[in-house]
Amino acid sequence: MRTQVAIIGGGPSGLLLSQILHLNGISSVVLEKHTEEYVLGRIRAGVLEQGLVDMLRAAKVGERMDQAGMVHEGFDISYSYDTHHMNLKKLTGGKTVMVYGQTEVTRDLYEARRKMDGTVLTSAENVEIHDLKTEKPYLTFTHEGQMKTLHCDYIAGCDGFHGVSRKSIPADILREYEKVYPFGWLGILSETPPVSDELIYSHSDRGFALCSMRNANLSRYYVQCSLDDKAENWSDQQFWDELKRRLPEKAADTLIIGPSIEKSIAPLRSFVAEPLSYGRLFLAGDAGHIVPPTGAKGLNLAASDIHYLSQALIARYRDHDDGLLKSYSEIALKRIWKAMRFSWWMTTLLHKFPENEGFGDKIQRTELEYLISSEAAQKSMAENYVGLPY
Ligand code: APR
Ligand code: PHB
Repeated sequence: MRTQVAIIGGGPSGLLLSQILHLNGISSVVLEKHTEEYVLGRIRAGVLEQGLVDMLRAAKVGERMDQAGMVHEGFDISYSYDTHHMNLKKLTGGKTVMVYGQTEVTRDLYEARRKMDGTVLTSAENVEIHDLKTEKPYLTFTHEGQMKTLHCDYIAGCDGFHGVSRKSIPADILREYEKVYPFGWLGILSETPPVSDELIYSHSDRGFALCSMRNANLSRYYVQCSLDDKAENWSDQQFWDELKRRLPEKAADTLIIGPSIEKSIAPLRSFVAEPLSYGRLFLAGDAGHIVPPTGAKGLNLAASDIHYLSQALIARYRDHDDGLLKSYSEIALKRIWKAMRFSWWMTTLLHKFPENEGFGDKIQRTELEYLISSEAAQKSMAENYVGLPY
């Protein structure tokens, strides 16, 4: 087999890259180790920055999002059981976010690739990368019981945190930066109307809570939990009771509860790998970085990586100019670190830290008071939340 760009990973990063390259006359093959059904079974966040919304529309993948997505002009921060509205549209001079599940984005991307006869090989296992430092790299993998070889010009490592791509960069070249948070998020999905029209980020003495949604009858809720906790330790009723204890009175009183259709715990970490490129390999999305979900930046950072990488590959094939490929890592990392900072800041602001007794607790409360009382602080938060420019 031969293609111009071999893409490892059939999540949102890999699929969006494949779609954009196709629309610009560049061939690609996506190798996904799981089945499409398995990939679509993952429950992920659902706040899209305008940059990603624009990319999906330009990539002819925005139709369902425009029908089913919800434009949000702000969200609430609950502190000391008072509610403070953050009017993103006012604070940013008109910018908003789109609430639309990542699972739906991924579903739309698979559908679009199928419609355009894209080559997405699912259940492609044992992918190995070869000759990265040459002009003729290639991948080997097993598919439908056969060992196959995929010759290409470039390899996009879109295979997430646990993929093979990042591990193909030599240890003496790769630098990894990581912060693991001392807690996790216990999340549930319930077929109930959301408690509020907008998201509620809640700081409470018992720990963080978040009220989100997927549509008018599908709600997503989270409570901060300890790292050694297990989802099976929580009955639905225990979850609902704890969530109510962490919400302002009005939300607690109006919360509509119901059976969970999904319940899981996710750990929180900040992680960045540098550089994001090595020879003919380019990392994008979770393969290169992980953010705590507090700032809803995971998918949106993958989008800006794909923006930079797709523009670089288009320049290479259309103008025979590989300058943007050479500067991809440097350019992408500038935006990655800004989103990393914001996600760390929002996580630090809203969660209960065991070691935060005394001084740390006072600083956190002061930071919250400053945000609530200062339009300048709110403008800074808002421009990061809606997404800094690409
Ligand atoms: N070979 C082929 N595919 C692989 C391999 C491999 N060795 N390892 C991982 N994959 C696949 C995974 O099965 C997954 O479907 O790569 C895909 C990576 O997708 P994601 O993990 O969703 O990462 P990405 O596409 O970068 O999307 C980032 O996903 O994890 C969330 O919060 C994150 O919203 C962000 C988004
Ligand atoms: C979600 O809907 O899952 C979600 C929304 C906002 C976040 C994190 C998760 O900051």
